[in-house]
Amino acid sequence: MKLLVIGNGGREHALAWKLSLSPRVHKVFVAPGNAGTRLEQGLENLPITSFPELIEFAKKEQIALTIVGPEIPLAAGIVDEFRAAGLKIFGPTQQAAQLETSKTFAKDFMMRHHIPTAAYCSFNQPDLAHAYIDQHGAPLVIKADGLAAGKGVIIADTNEQAHAAVNALLVENNLGAAGNEIIIEEYIEGTEVSFIVITDGVHILPLATSQDHKRLLDGNLGPNTGGMGAYSPTPFVTPSLHAQIMRNIIDPVINGMSKEGVGYTGFLYAGLMITPENQVKVLEFNCRLGDPETQPILLRLRSDLVTLIEHAVNGTLDKAAIEWDRRTALGIVMAAAGYPENPRKNDAITGLRELITAQEQTDDFHIFQAGTALGGQSGDEIVTAGGRVLCVTALGENIKLAQQSAYKLIEKIHFDGSQARHDIGYQGINYQRKSI
Ligand code: AMP
Ligand code: GLY
Repeated sequence: MKLLVIGNGGREHALAWKLSLSPRVHKVFVAPGNAGTRLEQGLENLPITSFPELIEFAKKEQIALTIVGPEIPLAAGIVDEFRAAGLKIFGPTQQAAQLETSKTFAKDFMMRHHIPTAAYCSFNQPDLAHAYIDQHGAPLVIKADGLAAGKGVIIADTNEQAHAAVNALLVENNLGAAGNEIIIEEYIEGTEVSFIVITDGVHILPLATSQDHKRLLDGNLGPNTGGMGAYSPTPFVTPSLHAQIMRNIIDPVINGMSKEGVGYTGFLYAGLMITPENQVKVLEFNCRLGDPETQPILLRLRSDLVTLIEHAVNGTLDKAAIEWDRRTALGIVMAAAGYPENPRKNDAITGLRELITAQEQTDDFHIFQAGTALGGQSGDEIVTAGGRVLCVTALGENIKLAQQSAYKLIEKIHFDGSQARHDIGYQGINYQRKSI
């Protein structure tokens, strides 16, 4: 069968690669894809992004199933349009995607269904927001309601910062319509983990747990990014916390959406904070897989991803099971010079092609490409083309060994101005050290 993956990031490279390993698949198209999906066996890039053209292509090529990677096309209703055209597609509808596309919707929904999350209030008027800040006091978290590519969340340590954030969003409209409405919420202390499930709207299968590293610099310092690295599984999600998360968060979300008449199908990502009291609270939902969490998670997946997604599309996920490699996978993001503010393009990447070839001889690592393109003088060089350039992902018997393998690989790859954290996995390693 032929499949279509929508997107062009590291997450989509990982998805398309994993799907292509199914014996039932002979071609995975990636629209629009990147240099990684271009060079990967079994994948083919498709340089189109408009929904009518994608639908026409899917019909003409008899695409058995389309899988959507990023939130933007989901927010724009790609699932609704494909379904209306009689095509099979995996992801939430535009209405269901509101769990990510409107933070106010997500918070109000959590209130209605008693799902634990930070206390909050919504505002569209600056004076009321300022008064709330004076009344409650920092630290507070200010969030734009709409999609803002990671720029919509401001952690304010002081009242001044909180007031400035309100002005930036509600008065100066720095994020445009995404910031016409904001929420201000309580700051929660704790350890952040990512919890992703696949669901057909009724049945739910959790994927392996993971932990992202959102700040640019070592020790979780510096500006927020899309994610500088991730590993799976994370020891922070103990079996009892796993049960708590499923019972108090994931089940009520999927059941609640269904009760409200907005069945949720797709991957659902919960960004969670584990508090020092071992309570879990929701920071955010994403209506898709996480990036870079997907890269280590899929490197560990032993089951056939096509079969899993087919069950989810057909409403038979209760018949599916997921098997994981017992090892840890750890992915380090190599980002372009200037990321996250102003990533530089067209830097030549050396050492990568040799590794991609070697990669075919081992199952122990995979280099997933994100912001890459073919270019340079020959037109055939791999060059940087976006903020997060690569996610170098390796397996190891524990977090430390996976970390060592991934960092060894990174040393072999070079591009001018490349940025990578040196401590991906450190919290998990410290946790394991303490428990021995
Ligand atoms: P979000 O896009 O909502 O996940 O927010 C981006 C990042 O801000 C999260 O990954 C957290 O690190 C942090 N964050 C968001 N909400 C809170 C909160 N209520 N308390 C503490 N940190 C938060
Ligand atoms: N890794 C965080 C995200 O995908 O939003």
